Amino acid sequence: MRAAIPTGNITVPQRALARREYGTRRPVTPAVQHGRRTLPRRKSSGLPTLRFRAPFLRSLPPAVTHLAVRDVIPEGVENVKASVCAGIGQPFETQEVEIASPQGREVLVEVRASGLCHSDLHLAQNEFGLLSWPAVLGHEVAGVVSAVGPDVAEFQPGDHVVACLIQFCGRCSNCLTGRTYQCLIPDAGNRAGSEGPRIFGEAGPVFQGYGIGGFAEQALIHENQLVAVPKDLPFSAAALLGCAVVTGAGSVINAAKVRVGESVVVIGTGGVGLNAISAAHVSGATRIVAVDVDLEKLELARKFGATDVVHAQASDTVEQVLAITNGGADHVFEVIGLALTQAQSYDMARVGGAAYLLGVGKPGTTLELDSSVKVLHRQKSLQGVNMGMTNPKTDIPIYAELYRQGRLNLDDLVSQEIGLGDINDAYRDLAKGGIVRSVITSF
Ligand SMILES: NC(=O)c1ccc[n+]([C@@H]2O[C@H](COP(=O)([O-])OP(=O)(O)OC[C@H]3O[C@@H](n4cnc5c(N)ncnc54)[C@H](O)[C@@H]3O)[C@@H](O)[C@H]2O)c1
Ligand SMILES: [Zn+2]
Ligand SMILES: [Zn+2]
Repeated sequence: MRAAIPTGNITVPQRALARREYGTRRPVTPAVQHGRRTLPRRKSSGLPTLRFRAPFLRSLPPAVTHLAVRDVIPEGVENVKASVCAGIGQPFETQEVEIASPQGREVLVEVRASGLCHSDLHLAQNEFGLLSWPAVLGHEVAGVVSAVGPDVAEFQPGDHVVACLIQFCGRCSNCLTGRTYQCLIPDAGNRAGSEGPRIFGEAGPVFQGYGIGGFAEQALIHENQLVAVPKDLPFSAAALLGCAVVTGAGSVINAAKVRVGESVVVIGTGGVGLNAISAAHVSGATRIVAVDVDLEKLELARKFGATDVVHAQASDTVEQVLAITNGGADHVFEVIGLALTQAQSYDMARVGGAAYLLGVGKPGTTLELDSSVKVLHRQKSLQGVNMGMTNPKTDIPIYAELYRQGRLNLDDLVSQEIGLGDINDAYRDLAKGGIVRSVITSF
């Protein structure tokens, strides 16, 4: 039986069949459309491909020919390899998808490195109500601009860029007062339904995680989510700037505003937590305590600036930290997302200190506090921090420069470089320990 793919009001025959029956559309190179220089394209992925051409539309019954070409498949598409997740609990699977050409303020980025943040694993395993499926995840991206939409002012082909999942409009009161990370219209940069999807897969439109969709050879991204970086930055290190670095370092610098001589505790020293340690070191904290269950990570934490390490499997983890920090730390960062360690973070803060929750908990995670008099007497604060309260356009260049000066260690965050097809294995490796970030560098 012929499988059918619904696209809007019509049904298009299965792609492989359609290719055989209706031929292949020659892709329109977007950069040529806008009179710009193009970069050499990668070779064909070798996976089954499909592109439609006008005769296919003319062959449709009259009832559906009133649809514009764009309603079926966006104009100027290109076939690229992407890792698609079909739904919650499903594996990442390499497929060929179609990516639209840039319009308006969109930028087409040839992805050179794409990091595996733990958040994408959470999203693929738990229902947070944030995504639609199927989806292309991946939000730690570094690459080269290959084409730009007609209204793009900031970038041109050949620029090296880093993507950031903070979406902002640039016009709301929060954006205008310097808090793009709290934008009131974060989806302003997404395409309207009438503009067609940016990514089109085997069975119709594919959701683009956080407006990025970085587990792919190419990503079509609004220019607000991109930041230019120096060309001498290695792509694998640069990719981490977009999430692990801004989240960890930003929480220390922007949220906690750690000062010289203060004490800092970081619970969970993975990709994000190690950046919190780096930033505490850069900020001049004199006690930096790393807490983790993974002994290899604790060793690594010393390399990033930890002055003390505590193995989290000890029954007296909190007491150990209180002893090291002389009764409690100024700032405690929880970077895992477990109710137990969140409660510990509050207990590890000194009187008048603060705990910051960065980790993403499973849906339903609840934190209980003794709010009779303890909270009041101890005058501690508890703050959730999203993406390190980062203004990407100003903060990412600072972190890039600190890296170039040798003051921010990004190289040791990259534990292994992998292929696009290795995502499932690499996420499994994360549970084994020793791995900070796996970064896709071959597609
Ligand atoms: N707030 C944000 O904006 C934001 C941004 C990015 C990531 N995150 C979240 O931050 C968390 C960390 O992300 P990551 O990519 O660094 O993950 P990761 O897997 O690299 O790091 C987690 C670390 O926690 C350690 N750990 C696990 N269980 C522990 C326990 N019981 N006690 C002590 N240590 C324990 C692991 O050994 C690992 O080193 C995730 O929940 C992620 O979703 C939040
Ligand atoms: Zn992330
Ligand atoms: Zn805004």
